[in-house]
Formats: sequence, C-alpha cells, structure tokens
Amino acid sequence: MGNVHVLDHPLIQHKLTYIRDKNTGTKEFRELVDEVAMLMAFEITRNLPLREEKIETPVMEMNAKVLAGKKIGLIPILRAGLGMVDGMLKLIPAARVGHVGLYRDPETLEPVEYYIKLPSDISERELIVIDPMLATGGSANDAIHSLKKRGAKHIRLMCLIGAPEGVERIREAHPDVDIYLAALDEKLDEKAYIIPGLGDAGDRLYGTR
Ligand code: PRP
Ligand code: URA
Repeated sequence: MGNVHVLDHPLIQHKLTYIRDKNTGTKEFRELVDEVAMLMAFEITRNLPLREEKIETPVMEMNAKVLAGKKIGLIPILRAGLGMVDGMLKLIPAARVGHVGLYRDPETLEPVEYYIKLPSDISERELIVIDPMLATGGSANDAIHSLKKRGAKHIRLMCLIGAPEGVERIREAHPDVDIYLAALDEKLDEKAYIIPGLGDAGDRLYGTR
C-alpha cells in the first residue's frame, strides 16, 4: 500500500486555515494556494537523492552536492491543479509540466477526461500529480490510470485536502503511489464535497460559481 503523508509544517497549517476560511477572497486564496504548494514542494522533495560534483569556490576546490536521479514532472489535474503549479515551479524550476484535463460530472460523480498533453519522457520521470482536492478519488484515480497507460512508472500524488474515501480508493487502486496532503479531513457530504474542506477549489481559485 502507498503511504499517506500529512505535511504538518506550521506554515502549511497556518496558511491552510486561511485557504479554508469562506471570507478569504479569490486574490488571497490564489496567493495562499501558491505559497502552500511551494512549501509542500519543499517537503515532498526532502528525500531526493544527491551526488557530488567537483567545483571551485573562490578559496579552493571541493566536492559539493547537486541533485541526482530522476527528473521531475508535474502533472496538474485541470482546472484546480493549475493553481499549485507555479508555487512548485519556484522550487523545482526545471520540472516539465504535463496537463490532464478532467472534471467530475456533478450527477454521476464520474471523472470525464477532456484533455491530456504530457512530456514525451514520462516513463523516465518522477511524476507528481497535483490537485487541491482528493474527494471520492475518482479524478486522481483516472489521471493516474491515464499516466500509467502511457508508460509512467514513478508517480506521487499531492493534494491540499484529502477525504478518507479518496485516500482509500487511491491506496487500493494504486498501492505504488504515495499520497501527500496538507490535511486529511473527516468525510464527504451527500454531494461528495469534503467536510470541512474548503468548498469548490476551482470556483474559489478562478472566481466562478
Ligand atoms: C475538483 C477537484 C478534483 C475533483 C475531486 O475538480 O479539483 O479534480 O473535483 O473530486 P473527486 O476526488 O471526487 O474526483 P472539479 O471536477 O470541480 O473540476 P474543476 O477543477 O475543473 O473545477
Ligand atoms: N471538489 C472540490 O473542489 N471540492 C470538494 O470538496 C470536492 C470536490
């Protein structure tokens, strides 16, 4: 089974509180999501492998550490996942970005895929699927299936808020995928919204309704 990591850094938790607050307007919401995505990127990259490279400081030669290993691919699930991309790119500027367009049908709750465009070398990259919300898990499950079908081998999932239902679904369907959350909430309501959650992530990011 994949592991579930709740990133409990105080700055992430503090900012998440304002993201959740219904009185936080679109501009501030977007800025906070960007900041939390950057902080989560810092935590999620904590174990990236390093190698040594010889450099010269102004004083002497030394063996200094640089990143080694697989290159990273960020895969936002449209639309709300887009709100987390720039924050992550601030820390991982060389990452390639692939897009998966999905929306959750409000009646059936089934994901409907409408777009996919990926870097050509996804099988060699460490992919991070990004979406603020992991509710039923239908959207993330579908996105991960799409990536695997196209050759992806190393996938992690990063969301702001997860519901236990979505976490279980991903762990069962994709035991190889580790999940990173800023919070694991209580449950889903009758419309499959996360409780207490933050409402509709896409609408709050883009000011739609
Ligand atoms: C939201 C969210 C996830 C999905 C989560 O997107 O950003 O992609 O719902 O729900 P699930 O886990 O039950 O699938 P939405 O369908 O509202 O589309 P949008 O980002 O285009 O607004
Ligand atoms: N999608 C959202 O944007 N919010 C939820 O709570 C559930 C699905």
